Amino acid sequence: MKDMDIVEIRKAIPATQKVIYLNTGWSGPSPARVVERIKEWLELESQEGPTSRHVLEASHQTVQEAREAVADLLGVSAEEIALMQNTTQGINIVINGLTWRPGDEMVTTDLEHPAVIVPSYFLGKRRRVKVKVVDLMDVQDEGAILDRLEAAISPRTQLICLSHIMYTDGLRLPLARIQALAHSRGIPVLVDGAQSAGQMPLDLRALDCDFYSLPGHKWLLGPDGTGALFIRKELIPQVRAVNVGHWSVASVERQSSLRETPGEIRKFEVSTTSSALWAGLATTIAFHQFVGPQMVWERVLALSSLLCRELAAVPGARVLSPRGQGLASGLVTFSLEGVEPKEVVDYLWQRCQAVARTVAYPAGVRFSTAFFNTEEEIGKVVECLKGLPRGKGGG
Ligand SMILES: Cc1ncc(COP(=O)(O)O)c(C=O)c1O
Repeated sequence: MKDMDIVEIRKAIPATQKVIYLNTGWSGPSPARVVERIKEWLELESQEGPTSRHVLEASHQTVQEAREAVADLLGVSAEEIALMQNTTQGINIVINGLTWRPGDEMVTTDLEHPAVIVPSYFLGKRRRVKVKVVDLMDVQDEGAILDRLEAAISPRTQLICLSHIMYTDGLRLPLARIQALAHSRGIPVLVDGAQSAGQMPLDLRALDCDFYSLPGHKWLLGPDGTGALFIRKELIPQVRAVNVGHWSVASVERQSSLRETPGEIRKFEVSTTSSALWAGLATTIAFHQFVGPQMVWERVLALSSLLCRELAAVPGARVLSPRGQGLASGLVTFSLEGVEPKEVVDYLWQRCQAVARTVAYPAGVRFSTAFFNTEEEIGKVVECLKGLPRGKGGG
């Protein structure tokens, strides 16, 4: 798309016609054509039989279409993409599939989502791995991020696991520099891409990524229950499939003919999934590519920056998201003096049908500025905040 025709784009995404949707970082509203394609798939299976020859063939093609769409989006090959249900699943596959010895170490940060926190916790408990948590709250520049990560690395570090964009305050990490630092010590990096995929353009080769896990349902605006895991080709054999099934072996005809496929990414996909959802994922990625990842990102940043400027005019509002060079994203977290975050979220919904969420660390209200949002919507929400009654909660 040359110049983004925001009116047309919004018409293609029904939820934008009804509410001020500022919660894409949780789950994004799907374009109508994505939902249509899912419905068509379910209809086809219901009308013609899910294993009728032509339906089965179409189903295999759809799975491949989704895999290739994700690979294209990330600038990698389809043989490096496993289709997943969500981000958390991919993170578990890598963390639990790597070889760990007691006393090994993993480095992560204090701003992670439970998708990283919980698998790390169990890694520590069950495999006696030491999980080092780097404090990134309040960092103001890339140098400080790198210094703190570097200080946590030791000869026992086997993995660095962190988000590309933090869900709490939208901090964007300098991923290429982190990868370079880690690789200089021979350490692979597992990236939680839940908030970056579909928000910013991604070229995983240029970033020199090892492992990258992402959802379909957030900034890519796809259906819940879709996601993907990228593993660099050479690393696939190093990750053992913990959950195994049909797709984890070369042939399942007879017990005597079972043969492991350590180098095949499909070993992680295990068994039956919904072709309808893969059709939805492929369609939403096509929509995203049509709009243009660079255009999407520029608009996301322009809107979040506008929002931060406008919030500065709201009495008692304090932006908690980093605004430093290169660290900002489309997630803006703020607090309002004298008002609990939950009250703010409730008020916004009741007064102007604006959808936002609370976050706990730092405690505040989080807005996601997606490319389909408008300057007018931001103006409305900020005006609404100015009218919010004060003085009850703790801020
Ligand atoms: C940074 C981050 N990681 C992981 C997740 C969980 O994603 P999923 O539901 O795809 O597992 C989220 C969800 O908000 C997130 O923001």
